[in-house]
Amino acid sequence: MNLSQKKILLGLTGGIAAYKVADLCRQLVKAGAEVRVVMTSGAKAFITPLTLQALSGNPVHDDLLDPSAEAAMGHIELAKWPDLIVIAPASADFIARATVGMANDLLSTLCVASAKPIALVPAMNQQMWANAATQDNIQTASKRGMHIWGPASGEQACGDVGLGRMIEPLDIAQKVDTFFNHKPLKGQHWVITAGPTVEKIDPVRFLTNRSSGKMGYSIAKAAADLGAKVTLVSGPVSLSAPNGVQRLMVESAQSMLDAVTETTDKADVFIACAAVSDYRAKDISEQKMKKKADSGLSLELEQNPDILKWVATNRSCYCVGFAAETQNVDEYAKAKMQRKGIEMICANDVSRTDIGFSSDHNELRVFHLIKDQIEMYPLGPMLKSELSLELVELINSVR
Ligand code: C5P
Repeated sequence: MNLSQKKILLGLTGGIAAYKVADLCRQLVKAGAEVRVVMTSGAKAFITPLTLQALSGNPVHDDLLDPSAEAAMGHIELAKWPDLIVIAPASADFIARATVGMANDLLSTLCVASAKPIALVPAMNQQMWANAATQDNIQTASKRGMHIWGPASGEQACGDVGLGRMIEPLDIAQKVDTFFNHKPLKGQHWVITAGPTVEKIDPVRFLTNRSSGKMGYSIAKAAADLGAKVTLVSGPVSLSAPNGVQRLMVESAQSMLDAVTETTDKADVFIACAAVSDYRAKDISEQKMKKKADSGLSLELEQNPDILKWVATNRSCYCVGFAAETQNVDEYAKAKMQRKGIEMICANDVSRTDIGFSSDHNELRVFHLIKDQIEMYPLGPMLKSELSLELVELINSVR
């Protein structure tokens, strides 16, 4: 583990796991990091600032409105200082406040005032973790680009058993190390399509589909986190671009193909995650189409270009496709891989409501062609963010 020259702001909130963070602080310092500790008033009920001051070698920050602390290092300066903010333990209350964007103590204010990456390390009772509000907050935090490390499952201080325990200090320290040092995709360019396409029918109507873009965005984030230069070609979605990713917004399949053509010239990997409309209106009406009394309407559609097939045929990058199927998932996926001439396909069963399309979870069956043999790797079910990291590592290891 080498964290030399890394500046880590370690935030503690109120929870019994706070006592373990003394050990985390020691390990980060031992690995060479410069650590500054911020404690909420809840955290100070479990462990003293003096302990963390001694271990970090720096004064502990705990007050937003303390004039002498502000004179030494003001909260805005402190928010700009770190390379990474790690909140451990992150209580249900703190996660809720951070998600809403509250700034009612020093630590929550720093999260709002900082543009630096934030990792939340949840620790709470299993029922509090399972609570729908906490789960919604975690998903919002993850969607906004915060890293969520843990929780682990097991015995809890209150006697309950279940998911909610803080992951161990060594695991947290290793995640910090991975965050800074594990960049296996450095020097590579990955192009990823995501979201739906929108095919105009007239000035106010269009053909589209239910793709949320979550899977493609989370793959783009994972590839960027692992060091790749990432171009994300996205149809209209309500997600913000992940940090460090170059995003090109498009609407129609043709405009998606144009953007992909321009960006894949020297790409190493192309991942087609977008749900591209198979058809588009043959003629787009310039004026709003009027309803005709007592008659139906036939729309003439023509086929859209197949973006993935185009890249597989015209570019030398490693091509990965997705197959969303409602039946015969494996069979259709393998046939699609051969039809499009690609090396890998990730199949998911979209007939299930617990995973896929708009869900934050997914489960994939990944088929990979190697020396005329097809191998299958099952991935998940798990959060799309975790699944994406595993998929990106898998692609990089087999390509
Ligand atoms: O042919 P089908 O739509 O089932 O194939 C799905 C895969 O092909 C996905 O990876 C999707 O992003 C990609 N695709 C594409 N261009 C199309 C249709 C699908 O890139 N016109």
